Amino acid sequence: MNASIPHLTASASADEIVAGLRAQGAVIVEGVLAPDLLARFNAELDPILESVSPKRSYLNPAIDWFYGDRVRQITGVAAHSRIFGEEILCHPFYAPICDAILGPSCARYQLNVAQVMDRGPGAEQQVLHRDEDVWVHLPRPHPEVQLASVIALVDFRAELGATVVVPESHRWERGRQPKPEELACAEMPAGSAVVYLGSTIHAGGRNSTKDRWRRGMHMSFVVGWLRTEENNYLSTPPDVARRLPRRSQELLGYAAHDALSAGGGYLGTVDLLDPVDLLAQGKL
Ligand SMILES: [Fe+2]
Repeated sequence: MNASIPHLTASASADEIVAGLRAQGAVIVEGVLAPDLLARFNAELDPILESVSPKRSYLNPAIDWFYGDRVRQITGVAAHSRIFGEEILCHPFYAPICDAILGPSCARYQLNVAQVMDRGPGAEQQVLHRDEDVWVHLPRPHPEVQLASVIALVDFRAELGATVVVPESHRWERGRQPKPEELACAEMPAGSAVVYLGSTIHAGGRNSTKDRWRRGMHMSFVVGWLRTEENNYLSTPPDVARRLPRRSQELLGYAAHDALSAGGGYLGTVDLLDPVDLLAQGKL
């Protein structure tokens, strides 16, 4: 793994982060979660992860194979963690980056999935992949439809399974396979995020330690007109969502996608109204 990823701090401007993303397909940003927020979030996650078994079934055998049986997952994080729903989902760090990458292709963007992935000892490296390939029916070429990240909730080191990224692979022809020297390891301190495009090749790394867990959270956003990986309305139903900030409700997909001003139409209404307004009025 000889390649490297641009390394910035949270004080970097959104323009610098976006420029790094466009050039390399991925950037590491340190200090995305402040130490106090990180500590409170981890404390909230501790008992939840204790109750989760890494041996579980998934949607189908291919997903069983992809995740393996050494990874503890928390899905629907907004419904399980008040700190996530109130402070991380709507964290201002992501807004200008999503505006730049996804904004030109939609009327609003939304959360695709937030998923805590606690990768245990013996977890093998994932197969190298592009996250956007879940939307295999989307014709290519297409503009970027996804902005993804993995937030390090502990220090990410190579031996612990830090995310592996292939810089510049967002501009590669589809069939090109990375050589070992084209891989980069996203080593970074806790609270950092490796931010990458949906078209960038990457994988969760191998945890070669005997007894340490690599706690991280995948958090990604997509254009508002695309079906999301997690069904966020069911994972965070109205009874939970109505207690969250309006911005978080919008990002969970409760806001209508109104493209009328761009010559399009509207998506996601309830009774031809905006569900996020109905939540505010106590009608949903
Ligand atoms: Fe991925």
